[in-house]
Amino acid sequence: MEAISIGLLGLGTVGTGVVKIIENHQDKIMHQVGCPVKVKKVLVKNVNKERDISITKEMLTTNAEDILNDPDIDVVIEVMGGVEETKDYLTKALQNKKHVVTANKDLMAIHGAKLLQQASQNGCDLFYEASVAGGIPILRGLVDGLASDRINKLMGIVNGTTNFILTKMSKQQRTYNEVLKEAQELGFAESDPTSDVEGLDAARKMTILATLGFSMNISLEDVKVQGISKVTEEDIRYGSQLGYTMKLIGVAQRDNEKVEVSVQPTFLIDSHPLAAVNDEFNAVYVFGEAVGETMFYGPGAGSMPTATAVVSDLVNVLKNMRLGVNGKSAVAPQYKKKLKEANE
Ligand code: NDP
Ligand code: HSE
Repeated sequence: MEAISIGLLGLGTVGTGVVKIIENHQDKIMHQVGCPVKVKKVLVKNVNKERDISITKEMLTTNAEDILNDPDIDVVIEVMGGVEETKDYLTKALQNKKHVVTANKDLMAIHGAKLLQQASQNGCDLFYEASVAGGIPILRGLVDGLASDRINKLMGIVNGTTNFILTKMSKQQRTYNEVLKEAQELGFAESDPTSDVEGLDAARKMTILATLGFSMNISLEDVKVQGISKVTEEDIRYGSQLGYTMKLIGVAQRDNEKVEVSVQPTFLIDSHPLAAVNDEFNAVYVFGEAVGETMFYGPGAGSMPTATAVVSDLVNVLKNMRLGVNGKSAVAPQYKKKLKEANE
C-alpha cells in the first residue's frame, strides 16, 4: 500500500512531537485514513543540530522548494513559526495543490482570511487547530460542536507561558525572570517571548477565536492588549492575601453587531474556575445563547499536546482526501464574509 508523504516545515518543539505521534500512533492513523503516512522531507535552519528524533540527516533540508515543489508530497505541515516568509511558503504549497496544517497563530491572525481563500480556490484543506490553546480542540468545538448556537462571549486563559509564570510566582514565590527562563526551556514560550509576556500571543488567539465564534470581522488592531511584564511579586501576594488570583485573561464579548476583545492581567476570586487553571494549562469559557456556559480545558502549550492537535488536523485532511472533499470546509462562512467586505 502506497504511503501518503508529508513535508514538515520545522523540527523544533512541536515538529519533534509531530514526528513522534505519526510514528507511535501509525496503526491508529492508518486505521482511520486507510494507508500509511510518512514524513518525507523536513525543513530546518540548521541541518547539523543534534536531534533526539528518528529523522535522518538526508531527510533534512534548508531549502523549502525541496518540499513545496515535490509532487510526491500531498500535505505540508508548518511548525516553523514566523509570518511573511511562512505565508509565502504556504501560498506556494497551496498553489501546488498541497493541503496545509499549521500551528501558527501569528500567521493565521494576520493572513488567515487570504490563506483560507487560496486553499478554497485550489481545492485544498487548511487546518489550524493547534494555533489556539495547544492540545484543546477549541476551534472544532466552536465551529462544529457549537455550530447550531449563537455565541455571545468567550473568556479564557489562552497563553501557557504567562499562566506558567503567574502560577509559579504565586504558588512557589519564584521570580518572574527565573520562571520565564524555565518556560523557555520547556518549549512553551515563543522564540521571542515578548509576544507571550506582552499579551500579543493571547491577542492573536482571541482574534482567531472571536472571528470563528462570532462569525464577524475581528481585527488584531482592535484588541486592547496588556501583558504581564509589569506585574510584580507584591501585586500577586497582596491579591492572594485578599482571596484573589492573578491571571492573563482574554475576553471577547458581542454586543449586538459590535464586538469588544481584550487581553489583560485580571484578579479573579479564588473560587472562580479559571483561578484553578495552573501552569501551562489553558481554559476557554464559551457562553452560548442555547447551550449556556461550557468550558474547554487542557494543556495549552508543549510538544506532545500541541502535536496532537496538528496530527489530528492531518488525519482530517487525509480522511477528506479519501472522501474526495478537500477544500470544502476550508473557508468558513465568516471568512467568506470578511473577504467580501475587504474586497468591496
Ligand atoms: P521551535 O523554535 O522549537 O522550532 C522551530 C523549528 O523551525 C526549528 O526546527 C527551526 O530549525 C525551524 N525554523 C525556524 N525558522 C526557520 C526558517 N526560517 N527556515 C527553516 N527552518 C526554520 O518552535 P516551536 O516548535 O515551539 O513552534 C513552532 C510553531 O508552533 C510556532 O508558530 C508556534 O507559535 C506554534 N506553537 C507552539 C507551541 C509550543 O508549545 N511550542 C504551541 C502551539 C503553537 P532548527 O531546528 O534548525 O533551528
Ligand atoms: N507560546 C505559546 C503559549 C505557545 O505559551 O501559549 C502555545 O501557543
